[in-house]
Amino acid sequence: MKEIRDQWGSKIGFILAAAGSAVGLGNIWKFPYMVGENGGAAFILVYLICVVIVGLPVLLAEILIGRTAQKNPIGSFRELSNQSPFWIAVGGMGILAGFVILSYYNIIAGWCIGYVVESIKGTFSSISNPAQAGEIFQQLSSSAPWTLGFQALFVLLTMSIIYFGVSYGIEKAAKVLMPVLITFIFILVIRGLTLPGAETGLIYLIKPDFSAIDGKTFLMALGQAFFSLSLGMGAMLTYGSYLSKDEDLPKSIFQIVILNTKISLLAGLMFFPAIFAQGLEPQQGPALIFNVLPPLFNSIPAGGIFRVIFFLLLALAALTSTISLMEVITAYFTEEYDISRRKITTLVGIFIFLLGIPSALSFGALSDLTLFGKTFFELSDFFASNILLPLGGILISIFVGWKWGMEKAVPHLLDGANEYPTILLNIWEILVKFVAPVLISFVFIYKLFG
Ligand code: TRP
Repeated sequence: MKEIRDQWGSKIGFILAAAGSAVGLGNIWKFPYMVGENGGAAFILVYLICVVIVGLPVLLAEILIGRTAQKNPIGSFRELSNQSPFWIAVGGMGILAGFVILSYYNIIAGWCIGYVVESIKGTFSSISNPAQAGEIFQQLSSSAPWTLGFQALFVLLTMSIIYFGVSYGIEKAAKVLMPVLITFIFILVIRGLTLPGAETGLIYLIKPDFSAIDGKTFLMALGQAFFSLSLGMGAMLTYGSYLSKDEDLPKSIFQIVILNTKISLLAGLMFFPAIFAQGLEPQQGPALIFNVLPPLFNSIPAGGIFRVIFFLLLALAALTSTISLMEVITAYFTEEYDISRRKITTLVGIFIFLLGIPSALSFGALSDLTLFGKTFFELSDFFASNILLPLGGILISIFVGWKWGMEKAVPHLLDGANEYPTILLNIWEILVKFVAPVLISFVFIYKLFG
């Protein structure tokens, strides 16, 4: 017998869960280093523009598809496209992206838990520079038992929440995890801002250097806005499918986007004062988290505690994202096949763990195994972030703008909503029909060939 479809118990539950999907390693790790590499405040400004002209309208489009059809991505496209095989395949691409992203996202997430444990054990307490931290990182990440152990632990954590379903599992978890996450960020922001020399970092974040901006900056900001909102693969669609039709959708979307943006900005505010206070340069790239930060805490009063909080924060942010990734897959299998959520959760968890093993070993035993000069881990990330997600985003906009069509979409958008001025609806139409598909196509081409 098919299980009855679950729904969010409350509006705030939905907003926190969707914001939880959006808030992830992308906000806390990628965003600050992109700001660092691209001229500080000027990048932030471009990023905000991208969020408004592409992030917001596509998020609205994606959630609307799910809310209207009340189904998983494949089921939703099937219903709204009148069974078109092409659009069903677009839904399928989302499920595939879920598998691929989870397989490598879990590894970094696992490292974050591993770093909580290592921080408590005192592994970093006597190091003083990034080179030493880099060596420790090298050792840990290339150790198969360490990396696979924490990866397995992370998969189990995600499974233990998905297992209980939408309102009992995901929503309850989001209501606890998101406030804790926000509290941790505030603690770390206050610590960073009260360090001597923090002003330099603050100025860097506030004063725009427009000479650092070019077309490439714009494409990077757009890609980040898109990734950060978890768009293009049906995660938001799936969360939207558990939303009742009497909620004011545009209003909820605004709240999700604002929360996600605030957390990215707070992450910047947490990093830069601390980094400048130590006389370090902001352009440290992805190595920032595992190489630059661990020793940095040693020169901060009570730094050991803040280091634990910081890696816990990362792990929580990652967890609320892996939950939404896994829910896409779970929703599909429970709805399309007659298998219980619990069975699916177990099977999917085991499969994702196995799928992640080659990526996990990319930092050790399999580091020499490359294709097109990329390790398994890098290939998975490239395939998902640079191909599946942008393609999904372009197709979702085209679907709502042209295939399903605005005449049908807008009345559904207004279900449960206040009156929205026609001008806003017209702007949304232009953004979804033209601006989003064209701009995301630029990012797509740039990432493939640039
Ligand atoms: N938004 C997540 C982050 O910022 C990453 C992400 C991209 C994601 N696509 C997703 C998370 C889909 C969940 C579902 O880290």
